[in-house]
Amino acid sequence: MNSYSLIERFEHFLSESLPRVQSFHPHFDKALREMVDVGGKRFRPLLLLSVVEVEAPLLVDNALHVALGLEIMHTYSLIHDDLPCMDDAPLRRGHPTLHVSYDETTAVLIGDALNTHAFHLIAHAPLDASVRIELVSILARDAGVYGMVLGQAIDCFFEDKKLDLEQLRFLHVHKTAKLIAASLAMGAVIAGLDKTIREHLYAFGITLGLLFQVQDDIIDATLSSEEAGKPTMNDGHKNSFVTLLGLEGAIQQKTALLDTLDAALEQLDASLAFRLGHIIETYFKR
Ligand code: IPE
Ligand code: IPE
Ligand code: MG
Ligand code: MG
Ligand code: MG
Repeated sequence: MNSYSLIERFEHFLSESLPRVQSFHPHFDKALREMVDVGGKRFRPLLLLSVVEVEAPLLVDNALHVALGLEIMHTYSLIHDDLPCMDDAPLRRGHPTLHVSYDETTAVLIGDALNTHAFHLIAHAPLDASVRIELVSILARDAGVYGMVLGQAIDCFFEDKKLDLEQLRFLHVHKTAKLIAASLAMGAVIAGLDKTIREHLYAFGITLGLLFQVQDDIIDATLSSEEAGKPTMNDGHKNSFVTLLGLEGAIQQKTALLDTLDAALEQLDASLAFRLGHIIETYFKR
């Protein structure tokens, strides 16, 4: 099965599995599902599911619960990232952001709800208890204090304050790369891969995540907001790769990271290397 049908399978599961919250709140249920439903690249679930499909194909259905947890954790981070107190963005995934459609209170609380519901999904996934605990542990680490939230805090605090290159890397490893590395590592845990391969995949994911953020920063500088589905030309105050290295420098970074990934693919077994190579080709080389 190729990546496209894996994503289709994920979309089908997602549309069936998002919670329907019955209450007398006028829009809580609609707002909860809105940003998840309107799409996005589904890059993180695709990574997780690809590892499972290659290494333990019979577990893909079980892994869908975890992939959805990962995607709604990511979606919460986007909802909060767009708030007026962070990046103040009115558009996301081609749709008005929740604080624009509703209000800030709704956007904050829907973000909170998606964050916690991610752990609910993993806790109830049809997987061994020891596997679920390991998955919760990785996601909590890489989305939270030791990962994305720290990255976002640094990103926002250091607006208009230039970081050096080592700090730039630290920022983006935490903000973006750790959740992407976690996606591969969580797939590896579900598939029961041994610790050495998990660690290799995690390290691979950190480089892939940096590539992802370099590309996101290049998108900000080069695409229209219609093309990107979110505001662009918006990173001027940020420590983005483009702001610090210039567009040419960021493109060079992208090439260097792609080379590093090509070399790292050779350390993986052939079928997994083929699948991840195909994802890199699709998302970064076309
Ligand atoms: C955007 O993530 C935020 C970053 C970490 C750069 P995505 O580019 O994966 O956003 P969607 O999920 O496709 O909307
Ligand atoms: C956000 O990075 C990363 C998150 C952890 C949400 P950006 O602020 O660059 O993401 P976009 O460009 O708004 O999608
Ligand atoms: Mg941001
Ligand atoms: Mg942003
Ligand atoms: Mg960006």
